Amino acid sequence: MWEGCSAIQVRESSPGKTLSMKHYFGLDQYYFNQKKQQIPITLDTSQLINGHTLLCGMSGVGKSYQLRAMIASAQRSGIQVEVFDPHDELDIPGSKTAKYSEATRFGYNPLALNPDPHSGGVRKRINWLLTLLNSTSRKLGPKQETALRYLLQDIYYLNGCYEDKPSSWGKKHITEAQRAAFLEQNNYAALKQFYPTLGDLITYAERKIKALYLGANSPAITHLDKVNKMAAKLRRLVGQLEKVSDDDEAMKLEEKLEDYKHDTISAYSDYVHSIETGREFTDVIKYNSKDVMQSVFERLKNLDASGIFRPNPPPFGNAQVRVHQMKSLSDDEQRMLVQLRLEELFRTRRDQPTVNDVQQIVVIDEAHKFADEEGDNLLNILAKEGRKFGMGLWCASQSPTHFSEDFLTNCGTTILLGIHTTYWDGACRKLKIDESILRFIKPHHVAALKFQRKAETNARFQNVILSQPMPTQLHA
Ligand SMILES: Nc1ncnc2c1ncn2[C@@H]1O[C@H](COP(=O)(O)OP(=O)(O)O)[C@@H](O)[C@H]1O
Ligand SMILES: [Mg+2]
Repeated sequence: MWEGCSAIQVRESSPGKTLSMKHYFGLDQYYFNQKKQQIPITLDTSQLINGHTLLCGMSGVGKSYQLRAMIASAQRSGIQVEVFDPHDELDIPGSKTAKYSEATRFGYNPLALNPDPHSGGVRKRINWLLTLLNSTSRKLGPKQETALRYLLQDIYYLNGCYEDKPSSWGKKHITEAQRAAFLEQNNYAALKQFYPTLGDLITYAERKIKALYLGANSPAITHLDKVNKMAAKLRRLVGQLEKVSDDDEAMKLEEKLEDYKHDTISAYSDYVHSIETGREFTDVIKYNSKDVMQSVFERLKNLDASGIFRPNPPPFGNAQVRVHQMKSLSDDEQRMLVQLRLEELFRTRRDQPTVNDVQQIVVIDEAHKFADEEGDNLLNILAKEGRKFGMGLWCASQSPTHFSEDFLTNCGTTILLGIHTTYWDGACRKLKIDESILRFIKPHHVAALKFQRKAETNARFQNVILSQPMPTQLHA
């Protein structure tokens, strides 16, 4: 059993202690070949502008191999490491691993709110969720997006999280098992202590669709419709009465009018008594299309089936190195999971005091799958702002062409392990380098490395002979 209801825990590495990581790659090729000197090439986070790293190379050149070795160095330095592994191949000794699949049912509640009165809340979460869905999988149509926004607003409201009341944004985190137990006991009141879940949203959407299929939505709407029709007839009778000159006829009409008034009042009374939620009328306007609602419902069911949005956080506990194995997920699901996790990791770090060292490293293998130029992509946010909060981002990918200008120009370390010739033009342009740098690389043997050091403005690539033991005098 695992206790998995809390949000991410920031592991207290060593409070007050400055962390720095050193990692030896190999020997400087120029000095080795030309001067017979062994000059070690070592990454030292304390000297770099930030802890970000880009590792580039085609399949098989050793990106995962280098990542494993670098993660081991980070581990020795006491840095926390969060690994996103799309191929389930980054097995790290001493790490804790979570494999996302139908069998493990690991996932996170995307509806959990940031309770911070300034940076959090219902409105921001809804906007973020809609952006997440639109940017990581098939874009929602405008009508679907509106319907989903209403559903989300309603579900937060029903759970007691109000848009304009920050004191209502802090709730407990529920697990799938807890939720099932409360539902089994029909204990709906208890559910209100927790954030709503995707399961709640689906149940609610289903209720709305059923109401739409039942026709006039609800008894209240049927009664109100009747009242409106009767009121219209009443007005016609009054109009007739005004035109009548014959006394007998006028009397008959007046009687009829009185009866009708009575019936209309009684219909109105029926309407008032049939009101269940007070929002029936708004619902008719909000959820007016069966087709739109049905498509939103299908979309929510698909999200639920993937499992990553179920509130079952993996039992990482206090583990220093955490590996998210995502091989069993689809590309869309992997993208959603990475954004969802990075958002919470970043938020948790951002709420701590700013720091000067690297305390946490986020490793993303096959990072081109998760990168784009959008400002709200968490990879770009981490690249831009992560350093202040002690976060380093390591991305491994086939080519630098997949990354934002922001990331490439803000990278403390760039490692080229052998880029495929189809990417050479783009890579040279993006990295502002000469093709000769790429030509000298020999996969598994010679890499090109660049460190952007704090006091340096003209960092250059240097060739490094890999897999050479560290010169003995430097071991001490
Ligand atoms: N520097 C290296 N020295 C020796 N073997 C290596 C080196 N780099 C990679 N390999 C081996 O090459 C194979 C492919 O490496 P891998 O890291 O999986 O490549 P990638 O992740 O870029 O596709 C693996 O068997 C790995 O052990
Ligand atoms: Mg790999």
